[in-house]
Amino acid sequence: MRLDQFVANSSGLSRKEAKRAIAGGEVTVNGETCTAANTQLPRDVQVVLAGEPLALPGERYLMMNKPAGVVSATTDSDHPTALDLLPTELTRNLHIAGRLDADTTGLLLLTTDGQWSHRVTSPRTDCPKTYRVTLSEPLTSRAVRELEQGVHLHSDSKPTRPAQVDILGESTIDLTISEGRYHQVKRMLAAVGGHVEALHRLQIGAVLLDPALEPGGYRELTRAEKNSLG
Ligand code: URA
Repeated sequence: MRLDQFVANSSGLSRKEAKRAIAGGEVTVNGETCTAANTQLPRDVQVVLAGEPLALPGERYLMMNKPAGVVSATTDSDHPTALDLLPTELTRNLHIAGRLDADTTGLLLLTTDGQWSHRVTSPRTDCPKTYRVTLSEPLTSRAVRELEQGVHLHSDSKPTRPAQVDILGESTIDLTISEGRYHQVKRMLAAVGGHVEALHRLQIGAVLLDPALEPGGYRELTRAEKNSLG
């Protein structure tokens, strides 16, 4: 799509006003001012008008408190999916931005906006995610140090990025990581001699799981929440 068309469709400006805003240097594309209205936008682009990130109308952005036993997929023949918990009219073109294992609970983001979900999940954007981890045994101080420094996961070439560990109790920690490798939290804990009994995602970037949401509950993200993630 052309830049002026995207700006007009997503901001409510007319095409002429959009062209004027672009020519006037009010629009950035992936952080760079772009004054050419005919620029063809690549995939996964972020367009900002006068400091306000733009999204095409009709896009939906939801958070859900995912219950255990529900899979982070749009369809599954054997298990209920996160989309099965939503009214059908909300599910069209919806996908999950950052999966959770079936037995993991907590903050799940769902959207129709592929560019936004790409920014949320891309390893390049470094978006931190915080998990409440219940362990079968307390962690040793050496294990905590290892998590904080980065650990080697079996069959991965690079160590994990340094994580933040907040010790909440004997066998409960909050772990903040900024990657999204396969089963990352469980594998990190296993690599330092721990075993995860329960895992619950509390936060992605600045977006906190709404404590008013019961398991299976959902709500639209506020504009500020949506914009904070891209
Ligand atoms: N890490 C895991 O091991 N599982 C999840 O569901 C999320 C992060």
